[in-house]
Amino acid sequence: MPLYGNIPVSGAKNAALKLMCAALLSDRSIYFENAPNALRDIQSQTDLMQFLGCAIKREGSLMAINASNVENTVAPYDLVRKMRTSILVLGPLLARFGHAKVSLPGGCAIGTRPVDLHIKGLEEMGATITLEEGYINAQAPAEGLQGAKILFPKVSVGATENLMMAATLAKGETVLANAAREPEIIDLGECLIKMGAKISGLGTETIRIEGVSSPLGKAHHEILPDRIEAGTYIIAAGMTGGTVRLENARIEHLSAALGHLSQAGIEVEQDGRDIIVHRDPSRRIKGCDIMTEPYPGFPTDLQAQFMSMLTIAQGAGLVTETIFENRFMHVPELCRMGADITVQGNSAIVRGVEKLKGAEVMATDLRASVALVLAGLVAEGDTIVNRIYHLERGYENIVGKLSNAGAQIERIGGE
Ligand code: EPZ
Repeated sequence: MPLYGNIPVSGAKNAALKLMCAALLSDRSIYFENAPNALRDIQSQTDLMQFLGCAIKREGSLMAINASNVENTVAPYDLVRKMRTSILVLGPLLARFGHAKVSLPGGCAIGTRPVDLHIKGLEEMGATITLEEGYINAQAPAEGLQGAKILFPKVSVGATENLMMAATLAKGETVLANAAREPEIIDLGECLIKMGAKISGLGTETIRIEGVSSPLGKAHHEILPDRIEAGTYIIAAGMTGGTVRLENARIEHLSAALGHLSQAGIEVEQDGRDIIVHRDPSRRIKGCDIMTEPYPGFPTDLQAQFMSMLTIAQGAGLVTETIFENRFMHVPELCRMGADITVQGNSAIVRGVEKLKGAEVMATDLRASVALVLAGLVAEGDTIVNRIYHLERGYENIVGKLSNAGAQIERIGGE
């Protein structure tokens, strides 16, 4: 059934989680607007930050964090294993308190996801790091972390953020070369600047940070809109056909996807603060190829959704995943719904079929689960998606948002 209506886009999860970590660098209150407070990942991060001693208030989409009473610098396995991003408390804790012990996050469904770049960068800033009983035990020199020139052998969002935060309180200048350029990193950097940090080069491959004295100060920051949530709903409307207005979303953050969306037959345009998506329901989506790359390339976090769309396209599409080694977990589930997909190494050939058929399927990670929801929107008959806690890690009120636009979707069973 075509979608028609308005869908509000929430604040970006992958910015909010790091912004929360940044609050550890300050002894004053940091206020966030547009926080995606209903997400499970935000709850997990809140639990960890409170465990460390932060006072956190969340109301509607407002969040306030005060880390003036933090005394604990140990992030235990039980809290870290729920969410890999917890590793991002390492840099701020070490920079402000001189020591930190954070559980190694371990692998996850989409790949092994090592944290060697985070550790190596902190060592280059003078930290002594040992790995003991599954924990990263980090100690800064007596005179504090030292600015350093760090060249990443590989582009990493998390390592860029961890080291950028640590460098704000280091002695002297830190240069991060081959840094990641995601909008969420720019958002984090802009908030750090409001807190008193000295940072330049955000959004480029070279970020320079001039250390200031500890701790950082207060700030009021509006979190940028979630480009992956927006991209997901663009693809949803593209698959069903119809016209949807995405409230508070920025098309420029999706530039790599726009060409592919237009090739597929989906019209997307910015209208003030909103994005309007249109696809003529009487015409079929067309197949096209995508390859994931670090920003500004096509985002790996939209790969599963795009593949879901290609399953019903006219013609075939080649999907190549270059960021994570095991991010095709949605393939067997989509095939259970009648999709025709062949995986070969890190590529998948998707041959479009005329109709998917509803089935009972299992979510394996956040983006894989939403890809199954999208497939369910266009499949004949009912689709039941199990293990939706993955979905609730990263999509606020997805059932309400989609059903307001006319989708037949409900949450059944479970907590
Ligand atoms: C962030 O993960 C996002 N998570 C991911 O979104 C996203 O898929 C990913 O960036 C890439 O865009 C958050 O922001 C919370 P990376 P991150 O470090 O920082 C390798 C979602 O669905 N690597 O850029 O962990 C790594 O294994 C999530 O919302 C190392 O080898 O990703 C991967 O192959 C999933 N050593 C590549 O780099 C390291 O020390 C890029 O990872 C670090 C990373």
